[in-house]
Amino acid sequence: MSLVPLDQDGRLWAFNTPHSSYVVGVVVDPATDEAVVLQKYWGANLPPAAAREAAAMPAGPGNTPGAGRHETSFSRPAEIEEVLPVDGGLRWGVPALQVAVDQVRSLELRFVGASAVREGGADRLDITLEDHAFPIEVVLHTRVYADSDAIARWVTVRHRAGKNTAVEVSRLDSGSWFIPDAEDYRYRAVCGAWAEEGQLQQGLLPVGELTFTSRQGITGHHANPWIMIDAADAGEEHGEVWSVALAWGGSWRMTTTRRPEGGTAVTAGFGHDGVRWTLPTGAELVTPAILGLYSANGFGGTSRGWHDHVRRHILPAGDEDRPVLYNSWEATGFAVTEPEQLAFARSASALGAELFVVDDGWFGRRDDERSSLGDWWPHRERFPDGLRGLFDGILALGMRAGLWVEPEGVSPDSELYRAHPDWVIHLENRRRDRKRHQLVLNFARADVHDWALEWLDRLVANLRLDYLKWDMNRPFTQAGSPEPGRSHDGVWIEHTRQVLHVMATLRARHPGLRIEACAGGGGRLDLGILHHTDLAWPSDNTDPVDRQTTQHGVSQLYPANVMSAWVTDSPNANTGRSTPLRYRFHVAMAGVLGIGADMSRWSPEELDEARTLVEQYKTVRHTIQHGRQYRLGGRPGAERSALQYVLGDEVVVLVYNPRGNAKSGPRWLRLTALDPGARYEVAAGGDTDGVPGRLPARSRWHGGTLMAVGIRPVAWEPIGADYRSDLIVLRRTRA
Ligand code: GLA
Repeated sequence: MSLVPLDQDGRLWAFNTPHSSYVVGVVVDPATDEAVVLQKYWGANLPPAAAREAAAMPAGPGNTPGAGRHETSFSRPAEIEEVLPVDGGLRWGVPALQVAVDQVRSLELRFVGASAVREGGADRLDITLEDHAFPIEVVLHTRVYADSDAIARWVTVRHRAGKNTAVEVSRLDSGSWFIPDAEDYRYRAVCGAWAEEGQLQQGLLPVGELTFTSRQGITGHHANPWIMIDAADAGEEHGEVWSVALAWGGSWRMTTTRRPEGGTAVTAGFGHDGVRWTLPTGAELVTPAILGLYSANGFGGTSRGWHDHVRRHILPAGDEDRPVLYNSWEATGFAVTEPEQLAFARSASALGAELFVVDDGWFGRRDDERSSLGDWWPHRERFPDGLRGLFDGILALGMRAGLWVEPEGVSPDSELYRAHPDWVIHLENRRRDRKRHQLVLNFARADVHDWALEWLDRLVANLRLDYLKWDMNRPFTQAGSPEPGRSHDGVWIEHTRQVLHVMATLRARHPGLRIEACAGGGGRLDLGILHHTDLAWPSDNTDPVDRQTTQHGVSQLYPANVMSAWVTDSPNANTGRSTPLRYRFHVAMAGVLGIGADMSRWSPEELDEARTLVEQYKTVRHTIQHGRQYRLGGRPGAERSALQYVLGDEVVVLVYNPRGNAKSGPRWLRLTALDPGARYEVAAGGDTDGVPGRLPARSRWHGGTLMAVGIRPVAWEPIGADYRSDLIVLRRTRA
């Protein structure tokens, strides 16, 4: 059992994952009857007796709410340990729940009860609290899985029927996670920008509040809703790390508080500052999930814990191998025509690509980004006979077929906008500012999301599509939903929910359909969107060196099978940097390999090399996409680095060296997570020139040797050309 009751009264529980325990208890102040739900422990596995002891530990100064004995008049440290600190009572920290009832913004919650529910391979506990005077009920949900170290929590707030009061919610987080006391704390997160997503940042956590947020209505390029915290002592493969991630693709806010008296907590939820939701009588607001994961095995162990959870419990088809894709966006831009796309399809198929995706430019009068979003019928000049010819041609080659769409986007220069100017997110008497010449459709409206579902459904059925690249190129601004009976700010939640609902309905109607999430590159990648999609486009920047940095950031939380990665032309369209085809392939192989180049410009030798590399990827992709990933070596893209994937008996190592003449850094690459006593046979890669540590084909090495001594990849030798790389495959032998 993953959920273990620890007392007779039903007020103390342990949530046990395979490698961690999380202990939560309800504490009632006898003087006021106010209940708080406290996090008593989060760390390595504890047996029930020890968990009980941990929960019974005498509270530190001021840690017993209401006890007042050791409290100073200016602080109440206990609130940092609360599962959902509210705005109300003796609290001065970041409220995870802030509600005004008839303009009174102060909650006083009582404990109502708790109930446990078995959900297949998971256990769920619901703790119900209610305000003693206001018609507000709060349910704290926690789900723990038998086969995952991630624990999911979320909250329901109900405006109970009966009293006619005005309830306004100005912050409703999915929950706060308390990080145990330490001498110091360090955080790790990603930041970035368009074409530079996923840049890892790490630093000491200052005393105070650190907020990452998106006010864009999408996850955003500049931040991603997760954080990892350690006691400034964890490394890639050692040390304790506590991490928290929010499963939401709209606006979000994550605040980490470090208190001067000790104690750190991370609270996060949908919405951002200033946004308020009114809750009519009888209505409820359910948050997305916030997930916490503890690992004793450093940042690498943390990432592998998330990868497993995403593949097992978030992705709708997480166990599949993703096909090798072709997409001509970088080669042709908007200029897609039937003959040229078919020519690309033939050469892509000859290279081994299995899925052909037609990107932007196929609809309305879409010759550039100025028009036609919303007019989702074939471009009459480019496809006078419709798209059937092209898509039949793609299918006839034995490839699967996909299409780019941007269902939430609308161009003011479109028939749709001229017919329905009220369908966009807007505010009365305010400008409708454009970005990328477009506005955003208001999916909170039933007529809008019904319309989207209807044309998408028809398109998928008529063209027998296996794949949609679902883009979103315009953050929200001047956002409101000016229909009678609706609150403006509701659109920040409802739009995202309805986008996910349209995706889920499409998938239910077309079980084979797979969806790539995209928002002008990597603007919409999070655990929420991944519930209904299969992979995401991490960045419009396909330069392999820049991609290494982005992929490194993405890999912190997301597994290789959600990371779409294309080989494009050299010099790169974004950076002008020239790199060898092999290096571009080896970088893209660390995710779901795709090709986005103009192959009509490739030499016969390049085509041959590409064919071989695609073939090789197919032999190892199951291990890359589903195996356990280890990040080895130095800073990816800047110095020698390597990625190792292990699944069953297979070990795949991708080795990179962007700087040929770099003398510093290791020459020996020590592998990890092998069976020390078993022997591994070299199935591919390595080298045969007799240097110790090189790996002649079919030679056999003990796992212990490969880990303790390592190998000497040619690509890592200190003299040579820039951008050297290798793919090494080893298989555990039974002999
Ligand atoms: C976004 C995507 C690109 C491409 C273009 C099409 O920028 O990230 O991959 O699909 O839109 O307009």
